[in-house]
Amino acid sequence: MKLDFICEKSYRLSGMPQKIILDCDPGHDDAIAILLAHGNPSIELLAVTTVVGNQTLKKVTRNALSVARVAGIKGIPFAAGCARPLVRTVEVAPDIHGESGLDGPVLPEPTLELDERHAVDLIIETIMSHEPGTITLVPTGGLTNIAMAARKEPRIVPRVKEVVLMGGGYAGGNWSATSEFNIIIDPEAAHIVFNESWPLTMVGLDLTHQALATPEVVARIQQIGTGPAQFVVELLQFFASTYLEAQGFLHPPVHDPCAVARVIAPDVVSARRVPIDIELTGTLTLGMTVADFRAPAPADCHTQVAVDLDHEAFWALIVDALERIGDPA
Ligand code: BDR
Ligand code: CA
Repeated sequence: MKLDFICEKSYRLSGMPQKIILDCDPGHDDAIAILLAHGNPSIELLAVTTVVGNQTLKKVTRNALSVARVAGIKGIPFAAGCARPLVRTVEVAPDIHGESGLDGPVLPEPTLELDERHAVDLIIETIMSHEPGTITLVPTGGLTNIAMAARKEPRIVPRVKEVVLMGGGYAGGNWSATSEFNIIIDPEAAHIVFNESWPLTMVGLDLTHQALATPEVVARIQQIGTGPAQFVVELLQFFASTYLEAQGFLHPPVHDPCAVARVIAPDVVSARRVPIDIELTGTLTLGMTVADFRAPAPADCHTQVAVDLDHEAFWALIVDALERIGDPA
């Protein structure tokens, strides 16, 4: 699919940029998700919020601010959220993301000041101060902040256009046999988020394991020749080494930007409507995203799962975003 067509189509459908709040735990793929959201003209990034996940809250928040500097993001609030899951103890992922949470490239000293508000309050205030049905939440980490926001201010739920999250997987996990990292680190939060009435699309491992950063993809990004593109190349090189060692992947799956891509261009990340719930009591299956594929989905089904990725178009979106970002001053 041609990139011009994809972007034009997403504009045509929405008429204006789609407002999103990105709730993340950078994280290599989270960093690329921030760059895609910032660089794609059909997205209006309203806020970036952080949550404990790939590393401690302190580390992922600093990483988010470093990425903001790399991308030249200014005038958008970045706020830190929950430092631990609702019920469980903190579990981080140095095997995949390193000790900093963003090992590989040199991380520039942040220049953006962190917003003073707690991420949960920033999420609530942003949603309540915009027209209902205009904001999409894009969580790419554990769901602690989003669950807390829904509990603290339930009026946000009917005002949110959609939740498009990276997490879960209907065919298996990566942190246990059945469960994916973002869900298993805070399954109670995931249970809250999946069971609220807002429309929710789960962009899980079934989809993101199709988003492989092959050597051709990395070479294409390197050819852009800018600082942010080189930053992404170094992220992908580190990610490739840990994914090979820890999970046996020949090329690393770049999960989180797939959720942003779904918002930009639903044709690139196609989804199917099915009921999904979160396993909270299974001794072997804690955190499993149980998707019921018995057709047809009930009329009141508010959840979808991503199934097919247009690999070429997906990476074209990333390349396009990096080209637009250029070399920020
Ligand atoms: C998810 O877990 C994290 O390590 C990644 O950033 C991604 O959000 C993949 O399971
Ligand atoms: Ca993440």
